[in-house]
Amino acid sequence: MNETQEATETADTVPFRYTVRPLRASDLDRVVGLERELFGAGAWSYGMLAEELGGKGRWYIAATYRDLTSIGPEPLVGYAGLWFDGEVVQIMTVGVAPGHQGRGAGRMLIKALIEHARKVGATAVLLEVAVNNEAALHLYSEFGFEQVGLRKRYYQPENLDAYTMRLNLAE
Ligand SMILES: CC(C)(COP(=O)(O)OP(=O)(O)OC[C@H]1O[C@@H](n2cnc3c(N)ncnc32)[C@H](O)[C@@H]1OP(=O)(O)O)[C@@H](O)C(=O)NCCC(=O)NCCS
Repeated sequence: MNETQEATETADTVPFRYTVRPLRASDLDRVVGLERELFGAGAWSYGMLAEELGGKGRWYIAATYRDLTSIGPEPLVGYAGLWFDGEVVQIMTVGVAPGHQGRGAGRMLIKALIEHARKVGATAVLLEVAVNNEAALHLYSEFGFEQVGLRKRYYQPENLDAYTMRLNLAE
């Protein structure tokens, strides 16, 4: 898979492109850094991420950034992953580097996960999201996810409640 999205040039931004591709073991150092930046004390370690990447039914992807005005490296600026248990897909994680948030990378990642869920024949996509995570709640509801439950103190050590959200695919 190799999906790209181009943004239009505006007065205050250079033209750029995000590309979604499979996550590789060589990306893990960068992902660990982003995890710490995005999730603080709740961040996954290198070992946890490596285990996830090689786990049964897991599918992890990366979003890379390209500045279209120059030839240079394409840094990883986002990542996401899912677990398919043979019936439903659980979104395990999604994150976009703070400097790249609000520019469409998160939407591309979630879209790719949902497309993969359809492809493998999942009946639904489930996820947990902190009750105060406005950006993620907006993003998921745009895709049609609905709140189906509340999990008390789901996020540790922050002690934060989470909504369980569900998107039915078998309709
Ligand atoms: C949640 C997250 C992945 C979204 O990624 P993103 O690249 O910033 O999102 P996008 O630019 O693709 O925006 C898609 C939609 O998300 C919502 N959104 C994004 N940023 C938002 C913000 N600051 N406030 C409210 N809604 C926001 C909007 O619905 C937006 O749609 P719009 O452009 O039509 O308004 C990103 O903010 C992030 O990494 N947050 C920290 C980690 C995290 O909370 N992960 C989710 C765990 S469940």
